[in-house]
Amino acid sequence: MQVYLNGNLIDAAEARVSVWDGGYLYGDGVYTTLRLYRGRPLDLAAHLERLRRHATALALPVPLDDAEAAAVIDRLVAANDLQNHDGRLRITISRGGDPGDPLPLHDLDRLPSTVLMTLAAVPDAFALWAREGIRVCLLEPGSARGNLPHLKTLNGLPALLAQRQAAARGCREAILVSEDGRLLEGAVSNLFLVRGGRLQTPAGADGLLPGRTRERILSLAANLGIGCDRRRLDPADLLAADEAFTASSVREILPIVAVDDRPLGAGTPGPMTRRLQGAYRELVETALPAAGPPAV
Ligand SMILES: Cc1ncc(COP(=O)(O)O)c(C=O)c1O
Repeated sequence: MQVYLNGNLIDAAEARVSVWDGGYLYGDGVYTTLRLYRGRPLDLAAHLERLRRHATALALPVPLDDAEAAAVIDRLVAANDLQNHDGRLRITISRGGDPGDPLPLHDLDRLPSTVLMTLAAVPDAFALWAREGIRVCLLEPGSARGNLPHLKTLNGLPALLAQRQAAARGCREAILVSEDGRLLEGAVSNLFLVRGGRLQTPAGADGLLPGRTRERILSLAANLGIGCDRRRLDPADLLAADEAFTASSVREILPIVAVDDRPLGAGTPGPMTRRLQGAYRELVETALPAAGPPAV
C-alpha cells in the first residue's frame, strides 16, 4: 500500500512519524475520512473546509490546499490501483514534533504539521450491511466521544472503546448517550430515526459531530418534502421508532434492524430508509467531480 506522508508517496511499510509528534503523544491533531467512488472523492471541498475549521480550533496549520489534495488523491488512487473500486480516504494532520520542546505551548505556527493521507478499498461487507441492515448496541449514559465531540480530533479512544463494545456484543455500531440520557450519534456515524413518516435526528448542538452525510440527508429530505425534526431524542425514541439508520461518508446509509436483542420496527430495512438510500446514491452520481484523465 502506498501512502502520502509530508509531500511524498511512499510504501506504508517505510512511512515514519516522529516520536515527538503531537498526534502520537497527545492526540493533538485532526482528521477526516471520505469516500472515493471509483477513484473520485465525494465532497472533498466540504471535508477539507471542516478539517481546516477543526484544525483552527487547535491552532494547527494545514499546509494543503484543495488543488494539492485533489492531485495527491489522484496519485494515491493510481498508486494503489483503486481506479475501479470505492475507497476509504483518511487525511490526518497532526502537530509536528520538536525534540527540544516536547510540550509546545507557544508559537505553534513554527512547527510544520505532519500530513498523512491513506487510501484503502471500502470493505465489501458495507454493501451487505446496506442491503440487510445492521444491529446496533445502545451504550450507557456518559458514552459521548470525550469533551470535544464536535471536533474530529485524534483523541479517538472513546469512539474506539465504543466500537469494541459493539463488536463484543455482536453489533456493527454503538449508539452513544450523553450523561443526561440523550441519544447523540454512533461511534463513527450520525443517527436518524423515522417516526410517523418524519425524520428525527439529535440536534447538532447537543455534543456530537454533525457530519457531512447528515447535512446531505437533511437537504435531500427537504427536497423530497420529508419533514425532519432536529431535537432531543431519548433511548426510548430509538426503541419505539418505525425505522432508524446510521449515516457516514464511508458507510453511507445503513438501516438499523435491531437494537441489541430487540428488533427495530419490522426488523428489516424500512421504506423511508430505502428511499433515502436510493436518493443518496443518485445524489452521489450528480455530485462527483467529472472523471479526469488518468493520473500519471
Ligand atoms: C463520531 C462521528 N459522527 C458522525 C460521523 C459522520 O460524519 P461524516 O458524515 O462527515 O462522515 C462520523 C464519521 O466518521 C463520526 O466519526
